[in-house]
Amino acid sequence: MTPQEKVRTVVGTSVSPASPPQLAPGLVPSVTYEGGDQVNTYLSEGSVRGAAGESLPLERLGIPSIIYADGPAGVRIDPVQDSTDLRDWCTAFPTASLLSSTWDPSLVEQIGDAIGQEMREYGVDVLLAPAMNIQRNPLTGRNFEYFSEDPLLSGRIAAAYVRGVQGNGVAACLKHFAANNQELYRYGIDARVSERALREIYLRGFEIAVRESSPAALMSSYNKVNGIYASENKWLLEDVLRGEWGFDGEVMTDWWATCDPVSQIKAGNDLLMPGCPSQIDSLLSALKYGNLDEAELDRSVARVLGTVKRSPKMSGKPVGRHPDLASHDSLARRIAGEGMVLLRNEESALPIAPQSKLALFGVYSYDTQVGGSGSGYVNRKFKVNLSEGLEEAGFGVDSTLKVNYTAYIAAEKAKLPGEYFWVIPTAGETAVPLEQIRRAARENDYALLTFGRMAGEGSDRSAGKGDYLLSDLESGLLGTLCREFHALGKKVVVVLNVGSPIELTRWDTLPDAILFAWMPGQQAGNAIADVLSGKVNPSGKLPMTLARSYTDIPSSRNFGVSEGELNKVCYEEELMVGYRYFCTSGVPVEYPFGFGLSYTDFNYGEMEAVGDSLIRLRVKNTGKCAGREAVQIYVRKPGHMAGRPTLELCAFSKTPTLMPGESCTLEFPIEKRYLQCFENGEWLLPEGDWTFFAAASAEDLRRSVTLSF
Ligand code: GLC
Repeated sequence: MTPQEKVRTVVGTSVSPASPPQLAPGLVPSVTYEGGDQVNTYLSEGSVRGAAGESLPLERLGIPSIIYADGPAGVRIDPVQDSTDLRDWCTAFPTASLLSSTWDPSLVEQIGDAIGQEMREYGVDVLLAPAMNIQRNPLTGRNFEYFSEDPLLSGRIAAAYVRGVQGNGVAACLKHFAANNQELYRYGIDARVSERALREIYLRGFEIAVRESSPAALMSSYNKVNGIYASENKWLLEDVLRGEWGFDGEVMTDWWATCDPVSQIKAGNDLLMPGCPSQIDSLLSALKYGNLDEAELDRSVARVLGTVKRSPKMSGKPVGRHPDLASHDSLARRIAGEGMVLLRNEESALPIAPQSKLALFGVYSYDTQVGGSGSGYVNRKFKVNLSEGLEEAGFGVDSTLKVNYTAYIAAEKAKLPGEYFWVIPTAGETAVPLEQIRRAARENDYALLTFGRMAGEGSDRSAGKGDYLLSDLESGLLGTLCREFHALGKKVVVVLNVGSPIELTRWDTLPDAILFAWMPGQQAGNAIADVLSGKVNPSGKLPMTLARSYTDIPSSRNFGVSEGELNKVCYEEELMVGYRYFCTSGVPVEYPFGFGLSYTDFNYGEMEAVGDSLIRLRVKNTGKCAGREAVQIYVRKPGHMAGRPTLELCAFSKTPTLMPGESCTLEFPIEKRYLQCFENGEWLLPEGDWTFFAAASAEDLRRSVTLSF
């Protein structure tokens, strides 16, 4: 390869995600006919409209261009790929926080597999997912795309997702490495994090995913980590990622992270995406004037071509464009039901009796949010709103309310821009006249009220009313509904259609039941109805703590920017993120990490340790209906070292569906590597007694066993 060809190989062909790609010269999507059927194929180096980027083809060397596309909730490409009436729709799966709420890696692997199939069918070679930054603060705009406040849960779920995707012969890409835990100033914020907190919290999830799923690619984050841009950070990309964890794939920049191309290549960031001509010039002149050794460039060229070599494009087989969308659609519905979290169910308000008449309130009941905006968006063919799902499930949905809400939403949205990946317009909440509520209370059996929040890439949420807090209108509506329906002995159910937490403390004792439904993908309405009707017994558990108030959260003192320090955010809370803080400090929470109710009950039987690397636990369904139980194993390490949490998740497993009276034994391998503490610059395994707890949540420790290492 000539130096020009090498340089062109490590710089993308500048496809900007927003507009149809400027096709590299001579490349066009093409239509061919085989045996009379219209089979839309792509030239082996063809572009895919709506993809995020592509690598350079080198016909002379038989190197095809490969296609990079988002995103975590499904493949994000344009449905219109050519002049035919074929449409490349993709399945909008539930967003990441719901996947981790299933606590079921095998189920998440199935989602990855389905996404990998759609990639194959549509000619996408690298998926820019999973996104797996730690949810350090509930206001982070992209929390819906991330998994958890805990690195073990994040890492295990991410690894399952990667295995599923890559089982199809395509590549996955972990992102955003590392410490991209807010959107404010994301291109330049300097995350000041101690090495201990980095290794034990912010890097640990990536480490688990690298070791347990060998992702082909990884995306460095925009931000700085302790003063050095992640994409120029040799310690991160070479010493830790490759030197310690054995990562052997390619590292790409996030889009338009145009730092210094030479420093990026030198630091082990192999591919500059989506690429721009100035980067080519910089690298060529650095080669010419000796600022960049050709050997350093060769290292990155080899890694980028490694991804090309393993891609379907190398086989040159035409793409089919016929993924099994029907089975992916039912998988989306199934996993959505598995990940919803039942927070409250007073006097078994749920499940709702069949054919009940429901008074549906809240705009999100009629315009249910399936996912967030930004690169994590999916061009889906349809979505099922809660109102439709409830009717589909045979419930009566009050027609007066339905007509009024749908007309209001249509009128509001007519004033807003059309939906596209960067902006999902939503109508604001609307008041309902008291006599309407009283009529609905007389004529219906239940009130259902959905609170929703939109979120997306590029901005964080606010701690104020209408976002983290209910708006006055929302809390007023809830109060009136509870007063009027309770007066007639009828129940009120709240559904949370949000990508990450809102505050519940001030209102959650008013309704009889609360279902945390997340952003549940295109089958949202049916999946929520499945849980409310009891067709699905909820088995999801919280992947993050729901604090009593925002200011209880340690990072609330250092979120966005640290006092007075523009462009710098200091992670002063150190290891005290989420339940690690609340279980250690004793500060009460509204709902703990790992919490979730079921329509049945489970008993935890004897817990036994097999040697010092395996724990077994009997679990029995002692309730009235079939269900699944996600069991967590927490560890309390010996002694109490300053600044260390008293409890840490070290394993988890979920039972298969257990019929009433049925038991099973769960096994929990204990990996010592992840029990180590990073103290004074080195890993160590404290000596003494280690206590392991089998728990239904971080605050519901049911059995324990003590081991001494
Ligand atoms: C974005 C995101 C990244 C995405 C990329 C391509 O800015 O940060 O997650 O994969 O650009 O769309």
